[in-house]
Amino acid sequence: MLAIVNVFLYIYSLNHRRHKEGILKKRILSGMRPTGRLHLGHLAGALENWVNLQDEYENYHLIADWHALTTAYDQTADLQENSRQMVIDWLSAGIDPQKSPIFIQSHIPEHAELHLILSMLVTVPRLQRNPAVKEQAQALHLEDIMSYGHLGYPVLQAADILLYKGNLVPVGEDQMPHLEIARELARRFNKLYARVFPEPEGKVNVFGRLPGTDAQRMSKSLNNTILISEEPESLGLKLRKCITDPQKIRMGDPGRPEVCPIFTYRKKFYPENIKEIEVDCKSGKLGCVVCKQGLATGLESYLAPVWEKRRYYENHPDEVDEIIADGDSRARLVAKSTMEEVRSAMKLP
Ligand code: TRP
Repeated sequence: MLAIVNVFLYIYSLNHRRHKEGILKKRILSGMRPTGRLHLGHLAGALENWVNLQDEYENYHLIADWHALTTAYDQTADLQENSRQMVIDWLSAGIDPQKSPIFIQSHIPEHAELHLILSMLVTVPRLQRNPAVKEQAQALHLEDIMSYGHLGYPVLQAADILLYKGNLVPVGEDQMPHLEIARELARRFNKLYARVFPEPEGKVNVFGRLPGTDAQRMSKSLNNTILISEEPESLGLKLRKCITDPQKIRMGDPGRPEVCPIFTYRKKFYPENIKEIEVDCKSGKLGCVVCKQGLATGLESYLAPVWEKRRYYENHPDEVDEIIADGDSRARLVAKSTMEEVRSAMKLP
């Protein structure tokens, strides 16, 4: 009896050790399309979340440059530079590349191979029903001219996730339909051939959308962003131009902090005396100009460490290259081994 208990205790302690060493950690696959410099919406909605999950999970961070081709197939000149800049933005935000490899999708050909195989396991009508693609098609007027590759956007995304056997995928709410397709593809593959893939779960960011300087959601296409790499002068200028409560026109007018982007930024990036700010805005005692100046100082100190890291990497371009090369080779190792399992499950050579 005692022997059995001892065996259990031994197995438990082994597992405990493996857990601590990270062997049993769940895996996160996160990614972004390299569409330009990142803004505060990315920082608050995604990057800070990624940084917080660095120790609890094993993270792989993907630069989805092939995904960028779905809409920018005719503007490829900036793609490489955008990918590099995004790596620098991620590093500046605190991603530790030793813990969490950063790699570029197009450097790992296995993404294309798995994408092709998965594309056989989903029907065209299923992809056409995907609300995320539908919405984008409408917004960009692509309904009748959508490319085959664009329709397959979520299939490529499923390949990104499944190649690394990702358990969790941090995404915005709008990405959930894509993730549902990845889950379906994992199930379908496992059922048809052999159990190779875990079913990935979406982890929706708790911090919703950040408003832009015009109070709509912050987005590059709306030209209302504040970049995480913004220079202090243009940061000040953007804040000065930022919309506040449209009913608060003169100093002394009572304000409604709940509709004011400046107040939202304060809450998120500079919450000092936030109660007092709220009360004084509502009573009219606090004017927008002074409030904005306060936020400018607060945001500058919030972003100072981010700016400092960016300056470092801009001055050490070789290090950025090394980080990407190292991420690529660590990712490739996993991708190759998954593809071996996939081919063997499918009895392909
Ligand atoms: N579709 C994601 C976006 O637009 C980018 C992406 C591509 C991604 N592959 C991924 C995100 C894999 C998570 C996992 O933001």
